[in-house]
Amino acid sequence: MAYMAADSTDIDRMPRGGPDASCLDRLLETDRPEYLDRDDVDDGVKRSVIRALEWTGEFFGNHDKFAATALDLIAGVPDPKILELGAGHGQVSRKLLENHPTAQLTVTDINPVSVANIAAGELGSHPRAVVREMDATAIDAPDKSFDLAIFALSFHHLRPAAASRVFAEGTRVADQLLIIDLPRPPAPLHLVRLATMLPFAPVVPFVHDGIISSLRSYSPSALRRLARHADPSIEVELRGGLMTPQVVIARAAG
Ligand SMILES: C[S@@+](CC[C@H](N)C(=O)[O-])C[C@H]1O[C@@H](n2cnc3c(N)ncnc32)[C@H](O)[C@@H]1O
Repeated sequence: MAYMAADSTDIDRMPRGGPDASCLDRLLETDRPEYLDRDDVDDGVKRSVIRALEWTGEFFGNHDKFAATALDLIAGVPDPKILELGAGHGQVSRKLLENHPTAQLTVTDINPVSVANIAAGELGSHPRAVVREMDATAIDAPDKSFDLAIFALSFHHLRPAAASRVFAEGTRVADQLLIIDLPRPPAPLHLVRLATMLPFAPVVPFVHDGIISSLRSYSPSALRRLARHADPSIEVELRGGLMTPQVVIARAAG
């Protein structure tokens, strides 16, 4: 049945392409979880996906770009407190600490193995970092305890109702919420891109998760709808391209 707009009980049925998604776009989505989201998958497989994300982020400069986008948003704040949600490998937090002399980082993920691995690395003993387990949909922190919360390449993991809670929670605990996620290309282009990746999915866990990520990515109209569902007064600014990561900056009104 087609999505019928705006009602809170319907939000989980909203297409990833948004309420106005085309028929083809509606076909290009899945409820199938990524390896990263499954309890029945060996931790070694999940680690291989996280390591691939870490490596590709370094190679293509994404960690640097994400950190630069975050630091731009808090350029006027003297000793910013930053919360990273869904940190995975922690490299974005590492860049933030490297590129800001006084920023304080709370580095978090919902996955306890990722948190333990981050804590065992250099962030675990960094004087300006705290590493914690945390769910982005139920953030264990008081209101306005951070200047910025950042959630990179993780938002698409969440179904619409949970994704909407990230808008509510992120703007509750931080003055600004920065979500950076995969773009959702126009459907014909999306189809071509998926077709080029498909042959590698059975053998490369990173590609398997990449295809599912792409199918689960939200369009700009979906992102706006999710924010509005969380709270109509949340202000949303969208940036980003057709094939480059989407950048969402959300702020609670007032
Ligand atoms: C694709 S990885 C992204 C890692 C990293 N942020 C990056 O930019 O490469 C997605 C991460 O989101 C985390 N995640 C999924 N659901 C989450 C939730 N509800 N709260 C916090 N983190 C979550 C996963 O454990 C995983 O580490």
